[in-house]
Amino acid sequence: MQPSDKIFIAGHRGLVGSALVRQLRSLGFENLLLRSRQELDLEDIAAVRAFFEKERPRHVFFAAAKVGGILANSSYPADFIHDNLLIQLSVIGAAQATNVEKMLFLGSSCIYPKLAEQPIREESLLTGELEPTNEAYAIAKIAGIIMCRSFNRQYGTRFISAMPTNLYGEGDNFERAGSHVLPALMRRFHDAKLANQDEIVVWGSGSPRREFLHVDDMADASIHLMRVWAETADDGSVVGGQNALNEIVNIGYGEDVSIRDLAELVAELVGYRGTLRFDTSMPDGTPRKLLDSTRLRATGWRPRISLRDGIARTYEWFLAHPAVARLG
Ligand SMILES: NC(=O)c1ccc[n+]([C@@H]2O[C@H](COP(=O)([O-])OP(=O)(O)OC[C@H]3O[C@@H](n4cnc5c(N)ncnc54)[C@H](OP(=O)(O)O)[C@@H]3O)[C@@H](O)[C@H]2O)c1
Repeated sequence: MQPSDKIFIAGHRGLVGSALVRQLRSLGFENLLLRSRQELDLEDIAAVRAFFEKERPRHVFFAAAKVGGILANSSYPADFIHDNLLIQLSVIGAAQATNVEKMLFLGSSCIYPKLAEQPIREESLLTGELEPTNEAYAIAKIAGIIMCRSFNRQYGTRFISAMPTNLYGEGDNFERAGSHVLPALMRRFHDAKLANQDEIVVWGSGSPRREFLHVDDMADASIHLMRVWAETADDGSVVGGQNALNEIVNIGYGEDVSIRDLAELVAELVGYRGTLRFDTSMPDGTPRKLLDSTRLRATGWRPRISLRDGIARTYEWFLAHPAVARLG
């Protein structure tokens, strides 16, 4: 991937897409193709095909998707499977038809079975039942992975599937209903601080453990993977192993944290001094979710942003962007 290459970032206004744009620009990549949903609806297969034929991007970061937390996933499962399948059909098909050199497709750790052995290795894919609350979304993402893998086998494309852990950071979704756990806690503690609320109730016992990666580390890992993964070395070997093109790659921080410790850290950094009460009558979900990122680490990549620094940066951004931070 050279700085002059034409690179399409699908979903460039999203959490991951905007981090990719920031990072690529800081590395001197200026030939970025960016289209808002109004300019190009990725569910429109014909429009997407025409766009790829006209623009001929050399590389694609596929960071567009219909994304949401538990509530959104369990309330609108039809939208999650329908929209994501359509977006994937459009983009993957157009990328193959117009000879895109490499594409990084973003999946999610929820594609792995609910009871997968921890830390979760890539080999767990399709070995057990999914978490029912986001099954529709996970099935759409699994279809995307298998599409990439099948296109690689049949057409010789280089489509890489990356599975990020829970991401957070500047540009996150802070909506009350649709957000993930970390931005949701940040928003609640911020509101409680302003309202001088004495106590906040956090769902569950606080004991489940989760992994969080700052989105700038995610962007860094994505660019790194595009550069090294599935490259053919001078000796003919393929980086990532002989089966690199049929494999998926986990992108994780490498350590997990209990929801209780996370909540206490977010409260501290937000400056909320009230009491956190854990409501044990609410369900906890899977006890632990940590990705095994050995495959990625073996290519020499490491995360750089600690959870504490990452949360502090995210809160600074939240405070500085009241209108942009989605405050619905
Ligand atoms: N956030 C996480 O914790 C996390 C974890 C694991 C994996 N991932 C994966 O990473 C990828 C990016 O996630 P994200 O958190 O960056 O999501 P996000 O902030 O919601 O961004 C998704 C982007 O896709 C765009 N998009 C959706 N449908 C579109 C359509 N029909 N046409 C054009 N654009 C469309 C959205 O545009 P609008 O702004 O117009 O809606 C948005 O800019 C997803 O594949 C997700 O599964 C995310």
